[in-house]
Amino acid sequence: MRGYQLVSGSSGVYQAEEARIVQGTIDTNHTGFSGSGFLNLANSTGSYAEWTVPAGAASTAVLDLTYANGTGTDRPMDVTVNGARVATGRVFAPTAGWDTWSTASLPISLKAGANTVRVSSTTADGGPNLDRITVR
Ligand code: GCU
Repeated sequence: MRGYQLVSGSSGVYQAEEARIVQGTIDTNHTGFSGSGFLNLANSTGSYAEWTVPAGAASTAVLDLTYANGTGTDRPMDVTVNGARVATGRVFAPTAGWDTWSTASLPISLKAGANTVRVSSTTADGGPNLDRITVR
């Protein structure tokens, strides 16, 4: 399964800073991220970010979310694809710090054409920091 690049056209990766909608900020004050920054989702329930993922045909795929959680508390998020939940309150557990990135993977279904991938914070702490998503 190949992935898609939103902006620069090279391979499978959607940077946080390329999200279509961001409720939060694109920051650079931690290390280890790819691209030009990472998404710091607003610390509020329901803060979300959204990417458009094109697919040539209906297919199944794996969504990888590369995140950091420098707190000692889980940062759960809902994940939807085209409005359908693929994860409810998916736990993004603490990593070793804000400079330490980990990857969570979920199976998803894509339709032919433009797909909308959304991550939404489910607690007032907001989600983890997100470096990128990859569809593969
Ligand atoms: C710190 C950290 C941010 C992070 C935030 C949070 O401020 O520097 O990168 O997003 O905590 O709690 O979400």
